[in-house]
Amino acid sequence: MAYCGVASRRKAEEYIRSGMVKVNGVVVTKMGTIVTEADNVELNGKPVRIEKNKIYIMLHKPREYVTTVRDPQGRKTVMDLVQGINERVYPVGRLDYDTSGLLLLTNDGELAYKMTHPSYEILKVYVATVEGHPSQETIRSLESGIRIDGYVTAPAGVKVIEKYKDRTKLEITIHEGRNRQVRKMCEAAGHPVIMLKRIKLGCLSLNGLKSGQWRFLTQREIKKLKGMM
Ligand code: URA
Repeated sequence: MAYCGVASRRKAEEYIRSGMVKVNGVVVTKMGTIVTEADNVELNGKPVRIEKNKIYIMLHKPREYVTTVRDPQGRKTVMDLVQGINERVYPVGRLDYDTSGLLLLTNDGELAYKMTHPSYEILKVYVATVEGHPSQETIRSLESGIRIDGYVTAPAGVKVIEKYKDRTKLEITIHEGRNRQVRKMCEAAGHPVIMLKRIKLGCLSLNGLKSGQWRFLTQREIKKLKGMM
């Protein structure tokens, strides 16, 4: 039921426990009962339709995976991490080979298009560990716009999270999505990126998802995401 988007996993368990769910006309109270598209599932007498065409997955991409379906160079791809899904899903946007963090995969072409279209200005939040200690002035220039590839970046949010001996951890929020944008911005500011991780995409947060793990978005997340566009 969580997969079909009728309830959260916890709520679905409550419904099952309280006898509100029928499979092929029979009340089912056993957790983890396996159903297929051929089964007739009802919640409170109403059919639960398998939205088999729309799947939304949040993946915590590790470094050293390419964000493509297939890699001509034979490197590991993000698709290697999301196995066991019946539908074909595709990554929404791209994280570099060496960037980790939140990646959305879906087969909802409309949502994917909107998420990546600049006019929707979807916020992306990155934690970037950079070389050295950027000055206040440098941070201001990153925030107000910095020249990369012959254009000036749109205003960004930049916060210092932590300073180490020879590096600094920054939180960088952008709504553009140009190729290697954060790396290029930091490089142009004189502080090359050592490590880069995306922690937020629009209303989605990576939170406790471990590197290499994935989960389906909750119904609430899907609704919120669609509501943003
Ligand atoms: N900016 C980058 O430089 N790399 C990414 O993977 C994402 C944003």
